[in-house]
Amino acid sequence: MSVKRIGVLTSGGDAPGMNPCVRAIVRTALYNGIECYGIRRGWNGLINGDIIKLDEKSVGHIINRGGTILYTARSKEFMTPEGQQKAVNTCKFLGLDSVIAIGGDGTFRGAMALSKYGINVIGIPGTIDNDISCTNYCIGFDTAANTAIECIDKLRDTMQSHERCSVVEVMGRNAGYLAMYVGLAVGATAVLVPEDTVDFERDVIEKIRSARLNGFTHYMIVVAEGVGSASDIALKIHDAIGLDPRVTVLGHIQRGGAPSGRDRVNATKMGYLAVELLMAGKTNRIVCTHEGAFTDVDIEEGLKMKKGIQKMEEDVLAAMTGL
Ligand code: F6P
Repeated sequence: MSVKRIGVLTSGGDAPGMNPCVRAIVRTALYNGIECYGIRRGWNGLINGDIIKLDEKSVGHIINRGGTILYTARSKEFMTPEGQQKAVNTCKFLGLDSVIAIGGDGTFRGAMALSKYGINVIGIPGTIDNDISCTNYCIGFDTAANTAIECIDKLRDTMQSHERCSVVEVMGRNAGYLAMYVGLAVGATAVLVPEDTVDFERDVIEKIRSARLNGFTHYMIVVAEGVGSASDIALKIHDAIGLDPRVTVLGHIQRGGAPSGRDRVNATKMGYLAVELLMAGKTNRIVCTHEGAFTDVDIEEGLKMKKGIQKMEEDVLAAMTGL
């Protein structure tokens, strides 16, 4: 299979590190004599032929920029056979033989659909939720976690001064990876994740009580958004033990900011590998990390995989909370 012209797009929620990844794809492609086009606004861009030519210069000085220069979207139209056919027509018209899509599960489902029409596709995991099962690491996770940690450290100062309880809601959609990691890093009193059944008395009230009995007078409760609203949890704490918790929803701030060094380097390696895979004749693959190595899996197989919160994290958390 000879690769002549690659399209690259970002889709779904943006993640810090998408820009370094686009940069790496473009530079690896050009280095190997392959043309590269940016498809803007996710899969919608492929449907509408919304493309820009990318050269070495157009991806200069974006390695340190959050967001995505290609814009992003969640395309409902691309989920329909008609939308997919339009996207295929665009590929044929423009002579795009391959598409590299950076995003999450939804993005990969789109890529898989496109591959059925004979377009070569490679997916690269980019989501702060880190919830792609076939990979240990998704671009954006490290930066988002660091942002949340910095915010919560600041919150702790004022919570400590006022001897208050804080309930902080962390993103992650239906997954608790971000909340679990952040909770461990900030030394939370309690961490609630959707992967576990929450027993409010045991997992929240008992943790706060234990912290108080150990001499602490401020409490940091980290809640993954998939568990429910931080306001509801604050209210329940108030009703149960009379505290007056302050609620902070970190929200989209977690998706912004300059990518961390780890995100820049991982994104660069993943972008490089995506082009290498295409050049090696591979298609319908997701670039991933597994036991410290960069590798790839079939998209369909990758989407079927399941990962959960690791037992060790649960055990460490049990020992570290309630204080
Ligand atoms: O998937 C990334 C993510 O930031 C989730 O953590 C969050 O639930 C969702 O996207 C928010 O989506 P939107 O930007 O459309 O509000």
